[in-house]
Amino acid sequence: MATNDLPRAFSGIQPSGEVHLGNYLGALRNWVSTQETADSIYCIVDLHALSVPREPGEIGRNTLSLAADLLAIGIDPEKSTLFVQSNVREHTELAWHLQCVAAFGELRRMTQFKDKSEDQSFISTALFTYPALQAADIVLYDSDIVPVGDDQRQHIEFTRDIVERFNKRFGDTLVVPQHRIPTAGARIRDLQNPEKKMSKSAESPQGVIFLSDTPAQIEKKMKRAVTDNDGEVRFDPENKPGVSNLLTILATCTDADPAVLAEQYTQYGPLKTDTAAALIAVLEPIWERRAQLDDQTTAEILRVGADKARAVAEPVMERVRDAVQLHR
Ligand code: TRP
Repeated sequence: MATNDLPRAFSGIQPSGEVHLGNYLGALRNWVSTQETADSIYCIVDLHALSVPREPGEIGRNTLSLAADLLAIGIDPEKSTLFVQSNVREHTELAWHLQCVAAFGELRRMTQFKDKSEDQSFISTALFTYPALQAADIVLYDSDIVPVGDDQRQHIEFTRDIVERFNKRFGDTLVVPQHRIPTAGARIRDLQNPEKKMSKSAESPQGVIFLSDTPAQIEKKMKRAVTDNDGEVRFDPENKPGVSNLLTILATCTDADPAVLAEQYTQYGPLKTDTAAALIAVLEPIWERRAQLDDQTTAEILRVGADKARAVAEPVMERVRDAVQLHR
């Protein structure tokens, strides 16, 4: 628990590509609202991004641009801590200790590992142990809650399991984060392939809306969004994934209920036009703030954030060293 009695929230995002609507409506919007109810720490997890092959410099450049995106969507450095994972050395040190209590079989069951390693010619051991580093991120800040999208549920459950195991072996040392994934983020699907979730690894960029898209690009992508041919507007994600996805986007942008919204439409065309307009209205203030940010300001915010993060992480890591009792 953080010192000011608010629960501590921690979350992370990889600097591995442009922020898209799935990230924003699925998780990042919740980061912004969580700032009001928790002592929030947000981390750009650059070391996680290195678990698949990268060019030198690629992740560093993406980090600065992602930080600016996060500030633009409303992460407020006065209210929360925004920092870069590799700037706080304790993450990798704690990850090692957690790997030592994590079972091979447990990691092998992780669906994100299975998905990311499928069809890859090179699979790093870091991709395999990735969830232990994620667990370290979380417990290094005595975190109570972890606002993430639904796809991270298994990693949070794994975190709880290995942290409980660590505490059993070495004495009560680390805070076990809450089981409940506190925020119900919307699951946004690919506009061209609505069976799949929206993701930067999509086959075609036409199915993905990026935060940096122009209004004209958004209108075009919405207009071409795949629906179906029964012509009925109904919220039914199982049988009508394309139409339901549009309703989800519109509902999330207007704080409405998708099933109720569906009743107001009889045709796909107006639903698409309204969804594009609602989305553009939500993104406009973000674009404005993003345009005003320069790299120097962003870098300074990250530097201050790393100092604040270290001040929390160092004493927690010291507790772990005391608990493990290696020669000092
Ligand atoms: N694995 C997360 C994702 O793919 C990113 C992440 C890394 C994270 N460390 C974290 C999320 C700690 C929450 C808490 O989205």
